[in-house]
Amino acid sequence: MSKRSKSTTEFVDWFRQSSPYIHAHRGKVFVLSFGGEAVSGDGFANLVHDIALLNGLGIRLVLVPGARPQIEQQLADRGADMQVVNGLRVTDDAALASVKEANGVVRVEIEALLSMGLANSPMAGVRIRVGSGNFVTAKPLGVIDGVDYRHTGEVRRVDAEALRRLLDSGSIALLPGLGYSPTGEVFNLSAADVAGAVAAALGADKLIFLTENKTTDGRGRVISSMVPREVDQLLARRKNIPEELSRVLHNAAVACRAGVNRVHILDRHHDGILVSELFTRDGAGTLITAEPYEVTRTARIEDVGGILELIAPMESAGVLVKRSRELLEQEIAQFTVVERDGAVIACAALYPFADDGLAELACVAVHPDYRQAGRGDALLRHIEATASALGIGGLFVLSTRTTHWFRERGFQNAPIERLPKRRRDLYNWRRGSKVFIKTL
Ligand SMILES: CC(C)(COP(=O)(O)OP(=O)(O)OC[C@H]1O[C@@H](n2cnc3c(N)ncnc32)[C@H](O)[C@@H]1OP(=O)(O)O)[C@@H](O)C(=O)NCCC(=O)NCCS
Repeated sequence: MSKRSKSTTEFVDWFRQSSPYIHAHRGKVFVLSFGGEAVSGDGFANLVHDIALLNGLGIRLVLVPGARPQIEQQLADRGADMQVVNGLRVTDDAALASVKEANGVVRVEIEALLSMGLANSPMAGVRIRVGSGNFVTAKPLGVIDGVDYRHTGEVRRVDAEALRRLLDSGSIALLPGLGYSPTGEVFNLSAADVAGAVAAALGADKLIFLTENKTTDGRGRVISSMVPREVDQLLARRKNIPEELSRVLHNAAVACRAGVNRVHILDRHHDGILVSELFTRDGAGTLITAEPYEVTRTARIEDVGGILELIAPMESAGVLVKRSRELLEQEIAQFTVVERDGAVIACAALYPFADDGLAELACVAVHPDYRQAGRGDALLRHIEATASALGIGGLFVLSTRTTHWFRERGFQNAPIERLPKRRRDLYNWRRGSKVFIKTL
């Protein structure tokens, strides 16, 4: 095969593989934020081409560029600098003039690049409309610990309806890190705050941050996914996270909690990262999702507290037999738990009686908030698979109040004599549980 046809085949394969993503993203709202460093960086023209491509594929885009280096440059030209107190910038009159100017320059630059349509360029024949405006209402940050932050502000409100109209018309919305107040003032806002607030107000499908720094764990490896709670923990634990990234992470968690399904944090130095993140299976950045992480696994000693908390009300109600912490610690390896976003929401125990070819299924419990969603069934399937793998031919269960649940899942009433002798000797006649057996 010639070189040319091989690369064509590869291209065709790649293009076909990306089609599910193209269909999935069409019509969706993505908010994309990047720093002023990206705007003045070498790869910016490529990034703008990628933005144009996303627009062409029917993605409704809101761009929120930062302008930090440009503001600093303006201030330096004026022989001034911006005071930072407790990690927050104080925007005085000179700084505000620089903020307005720098944001204006950034905006014009992006609009110019998005207007390109030269033949033989990646944007040949493209006509992209960009809209900007007073979509973000701001309020002053005010005086904190005696420090007046002057024209530094916070987002008060986002005019989601007007933004939606703009996006519906096929335009790209371009919102700088600025906000206006009903008093007619302009406030300096962080682009990450604006992006987070806009994504939340629009109920965006994705919020994407292109950052200067990667989100890494203690060993410098990129963290591939997190839920908001883990973001909070990371921010509380690690004090050396660069300011830019910690603001992004904070906003990512807030937006996620406010209903934004997915927040991507991507390294902006990586050419084409936007395209590869959105149209291929190999995500290279950090994905923050509100969807709780749920896993069924063998219990560990750290789960003892969670299991006790889960089963205590069911023990009090007499549905489950009481277990002490000590017993649970000893038997922890017999337990399977369902962990959801860090909490134990279901459990079950399996006690093999190998000599009899049987095992007891016990302590089946699903947290009341998570019932009626098939978790009990899933747990039972998991336990049955574990038991089969151990060469166990049948499961038995002793139940007082949940007999029908087991019967409906293939367990059959059996006399106490069918229990392994060791278990029969422990049978609590006062409790009077019924015995059910299921052949595996
Ligand atoms: C039994 C239990 C584990 C089921 O958990 P779950 O995640 O809701 O289970 P699923 O979603 O797979 O099944 C739900 C079905 O079981 C039924 N069910 C729940 N408890 C039942 C009971 N005591 N008797 C009969 N059926 C019952 C529900 O009504 C539902 O069926 P439906 O949708 O047809 O009405 C849960 O209700 C529980 O923790 N109960 C308290 C502890 C207990 O009784 N454990 C067993 C003792 S060993």
